[in-house]
Amino acid sequence: MHIVEMQDITKRFGPVIANDGIVFGLRWGEIHALLGENGAGKTTLMRILYGLYRADDGEIWVEGQLARIASPKDAIELGIGMVTQHFALVPPLSVAENVVLGFTDSFRLDMASIEQRVAESAARFGLEISPATQVRHLSVGQKQRVEILKALYREARVLILDEPTAVLIPQEVEALFHTLERLRESGLSVIFITHKLDEVMAISDRVTVLRDGKVIGTVNTSETTKRELARMMVGRETFGVCREEEQTGIEPILQIEGLCVTNDQGLPALKEVTLTVHAREILGIAGVGGNGQKELAETLCGVRRPSGGRVLVGGQDMTGAIPAEFTAAGVGRIPEDRHTGVVGELSVAENLALEHLREFARGGVLDRQAIQRHAQELIQQFQIKARPTDRTRTLSGGNLQKLILARVLSRQPRTVIAPQPTRGLDVGATEYVRNQLLQQRARGAAVLLISEDLDEILALADRIAVIYEGEIVGVLPACDADIEQLGLMMSGAVKERQGVIPGA
Ligand SMILES: Nc1ncnc2c1ncn2[C@@H]1O[C@H](COP(=O)(O)OP(=O)(O)OP(=O)(O)O)[C@@H](O)[C@H]1O
Ligand SMILES: [Mg+2]
Repeated sequence: MHIVEMQDITKRFGPVIANDGIVFGLRWGEIHALLGENGAGKTTLMRILYGLYRADDGEIWVEGQLARIASPKDAIELGIGMVTQHFALVPPLSVAENVVLGFTDSFRLDMASIEQRVAESAARFGLEISPATQVRHLSVGQKQRVEILKALYREARVLILDEPTAVLIPQEVEALFHTLERLRESGLSVIFITHKLDEVMAISDRVTVLRDGKVIGTVNTSETTKRELARMMVGRETFGVCREEEQTGIEPILQIEGLCVTNDQGLPALKEVTLTVHAREILGIAGVGGNGQKELAETLCGVRRPSGGRVLVGGQDMTGAIPAEFTAAGVGRIPEDRHTGVVGELSVAENLALEHLREFARGGVLDRQAIQRHAQELIQQFQIKARPTDRTRTLSGGNLQKLILARVLSRQPRTVIAPQPTRGLDVGATEYVRNQLLQQRARGAAVLLISEDLDEILALADRIAVIYEGEIVGVLPACDADIEQLGLMMSGAVKERQGVIPGA
């Protein structure tokens, strides 16, 4: 009945037991969600199944046979495919070329017939993509489709997806779910890693929950609830941030006036955006992804130059300043892509000292001990599960985010720019990050929270600005916000004109 059985899998990384006697069974034709907090061991288990890691102990059975999986090549031969979080595509090649790359014996590729085959399976599984397009022109969501097609072309019967929705906008998530349903209909088995309980409930047949490297349980999705899953994940029941109901400040800290910005294609991304964030205030920017949020965050930290308008921080005109000047003016940015925020090959301590190395220099020489001490303190204060000497690339997603928060927030910035700060984080880490943002507010900082997650905006923001096609279509106090109206504004159906605080 099981296409894959993993028995008593154990994997250690030095003193860390990432997988501790794991038993996991995947049925034919099911969508099986793998759930667990950051660092629970999900990616490790799947990397073992796909041959990227060797287990220290345990057995893997595939279709009733004991399997020896020493490399992805072995896994692929057994019909196992994996779409990882970092795509391995060749940008100048076409979709079809990427799909067949490394998987063809013939010297002369018959591109026309390959393109046709790729187009057929794309159409069959609802993976909208044109086979002749160069991969470098594709969005993240489209690249993911190419990776899925690659696995299907290699005749995968088991498809592993590691947090596939973390990089997708809501519409793309829906399309992915359609694809997964069609794959299931055609008999494939899917392992789906996610942190989002809504997604587990929406798409999976069964769920396995991991905690601290161990299996807590496997349950039928139809017989469980989000609450029960959350409890299995963290061993306790209640979540949520505790919000201090204090008066927001009146002192404007971050002032954006008539800001115009163009995107990478040279098209207008922001059209005369005017917003003010006050001390002791969280201003939430709500909107569907791709409506100018990325460009806004980039402009507010000097990564992108505006084509018009002004940006003031604490009254100081920062329009067109470079990132280092923004940092010096007290702007802390939590980068949207965590992997660009750190240098994976450096240690945790080095990454924590990055951006202000000068403070650790003595007579032109770096004081290594001071860097270690500083790291030790921040690790404790921000509850990062890592040692100062660990290579940063070995950290789990949640711990990576904590590291970045530690680096940014320990500087006590006057204003915090937080684009999608909890994307890809589990319930516990999400709660942690949200509490950190509330603490920044309590300390007196002006926080700009950019999020596609309406629940997050409603939980944290004092005021909500809705962005649509590069324009602010309304600003309202969070206490007056009605979720349906916000949804309509986000879809561009309604412009809130009443209740817009002029110049706010
Ligand atoms: N290559 C590695 N070297 C050292 N430690 C590692 C390595 N890969 C993972 N770990 C450690 O193993 C544990 C499990 O990590 P894993 O990446 O499997 O967690 P995860 O459940 O996928 O977390 P997330 O939800 O954050 O992606 C963590 O403590 C992590 O730091
Ligand atoms: Mg992972």
